[in-house]
Amino acid sequence: MSQQFKGCDLVAIRDFSKEQIEHIMNLAEKMVPIALGQERSNLLAGYVQGSLFFEPSTRTRLSFASAMARLGGTTLGFDQPGGSSVQKGETLADTIKMVESYSDIIVLRHYAEGSARLAAYFSDKPVINAGDGAGQHPTQTILDLFTIRKAKGRIEGVNVALVGDLKYGRTAHSLAEALALFGANLMFVAPASLQMPKETIRAVEKIGNKPRTLTSIDQALPDADILYVTRIQKERFPDLAEYQKVAGSYRIDSMLLKDAKPDLSIMHPLPRVDEISPEVDSSPHALYFQQAFNGVPVRMAILALLLGVIE
Ligand code: NCD
Repeated sequence: MSQQFKGCDLVAIRDFSKEQIEHIMNLAEKMVPIALGQERSNLLAGYVQGSLFFEPSTRTRLSFASAMARLGGTTLGFDQPGGSSVQKGETLADTIKMVESYSDIIVLRHYAEGSARLAAYFSDKPVINAGDGAGQHPTQTILDLFTIRKAKGRIEGVNVALVGDLKYGRTAHSLAEALALFGANLMFVAPASLQMPKETIRAVEKIGNKPRTLTSIDQALPDADILYVTRIQKERFPDLAEYQKVAGSYRIDSMLLKDAKPDLSIMHPLPRVDEISPEVDSSPHALYFQQAFNGVPVRMAILALLLGVIE
């Protein structure tokens, strides 16, 4: 298997096959005790991760750093471009060439869709897309799949409702494709102006999946096994007035959950703004904090495989 991962980039979820994603999840399962700090590891001792975040991040950046540190490796980079030569006008291509010469693998989050593909073109070292504008977020997708598989025991046949900003939400784009690949039943719940882009719908349908397009959570709730809630991506609206029209469209609270299946799980890539009421946190439906933790073992597996340290 190592030949299939070593030196590869992870830019879009389509870069990996179903078998490869399953392999990552199986390896991530073995990484859990290390991610929890119950076991120590030096698997990536001497390896350096270049971490370039042009957009805000808490979970993605810190879980990549935690994954690297817990495997004995080191991380360098920036969490805002203002402190780097980007501020002086350096191009992304030049920044990537520099960081490539200081590290073994590059993790990039950038506001421009397609930036990670561009970075991969300029770098001989593996590039991991940690979110490119409204494009994709493939490592989030693998940790989302891992979370669903752990909670439900399978992905095939699970009814998943993706809720919120499906137009600009990159997590929803890559997850929809992956869920189709794994045979989940998809519901896309969004205001008409924020529905899933045609390109993603086409990709999902090409795999043979037939998603239901809905505008209200009530229509999805009775069937849903997973409610995957997303934040309205305020920063990606060209016009703030358009944002204001859809802000607060959905709010998950205990009242709403009265109609849910008893074993409904609620996921959210986080951060939440007002989509999930804090009272839901203590309910058995809340899976989002566990989901966020799962970012560590999944990213450990991805780093170890792309660096070719493990098969
Ligand atoms: C998401 C992102 O950055 O795309 N967060 C994350 O990585 N967990 C979701 C968001 O910002 O709404």
